[in-house]
Amino acid sequence: MKLTSANINVMVKACRKASKTIIRDFGEIENLQVSLKGPGDFVTNCDKKVEKILIEELLKARPTYSILSEEVGKISNDESFKWIIDPIDGTANFFHGIPHFAISIGLEHNKEIICGIIYDPIKDEMFSAEKGNGAYVNNQRMRVSSRSKLEDCIIFTGGPKHELKNKELALKEYNNFSLKVLVPIRKLGSAALDMAYVAAGRCDGFWQRNLNYWDIAAGIIIVKEAGGFVTDFMGENSYIENKTILVTNSKINKEMIEVLK
Ligand code: 2AM
Ligand code: CA
Repeated sequence: MKLTSANINVMVKACRKASKTIIRDFGEIENLQVSLKGPGDFVTNCDKKVEKILIEELLKARPTYSILSEEVGKISNDESFKWIIDPIDGTANFFHGIPHFAISIGLEHNKEIICGIIYDPIKDEMFSAEKGNGAYVNNQRMRVSSRSKLEDCIIFTGGPKHELKNKELALKEYNNFSLKVLVPIRKLGSAALDMAYVAAGRCDGFWQRNLNYWDIAAGIIIVKEAGGFVTDFMGENSYIENKTILVTNSKINKEMIEVLK
């Protein structure tokens, strides 16, 4: 069993094509670490190339849809359908030769994400979901974990960035959670994969401040279709506007909100 709708096929095709460029360029990164110039421009170029391939492929298949993408920003067409693209999520990992990053594409219909894919090209894992039709990793159905006590959980976060204005708050949250869980908190560096891992039951809960819509768009539907919760830190729906996201299995959402209060 797997997802076979036309929109999923369009996303998967675009993503597979773009991932060839990512894999090829990632192979060069190791050499660039030791060069005087470093991999900076090379990574920016790769990000742009990948984005270009994704946009070309998506527009070829769906010429009327709008686009919101990390590098180029907005392309306005029919606003009721919109692709939300992050060409490389986990750019810092990519930059440092750490094989943990992903392409993320979500599709919005009338302001609601209706399908999404997150693709880890190095591990060749395609996480996908479509409203009402479940979530999959490659061709296998995904479900969130069933751990119900925060103490037993493995939880993830990202940030804070050095210029983040809520840095103290983010560090306080980290401290509070670290007092609750037995396994130390993980910071893997790709918010899209963090969400995919909650959907796959590998991670029980994830919280982060200051993410952009393209970091989380595909993850939203993937987590929901796997039976998980996506809320803000108060348990409400305003996680995009508030830029505070809490992603959990169906059991520990309340306990994580208590810690975030
Ligand atoms: P990026 O790799 O596309 O920049 C790392 O914590 C994760 O958070 C990555 O997914 C990174 O996406 C994303 N991120 C984006 N903006 C951020 C911000 N202002 N602070 C922290 N992380 C951010
Ligand atoms: Ca991102």
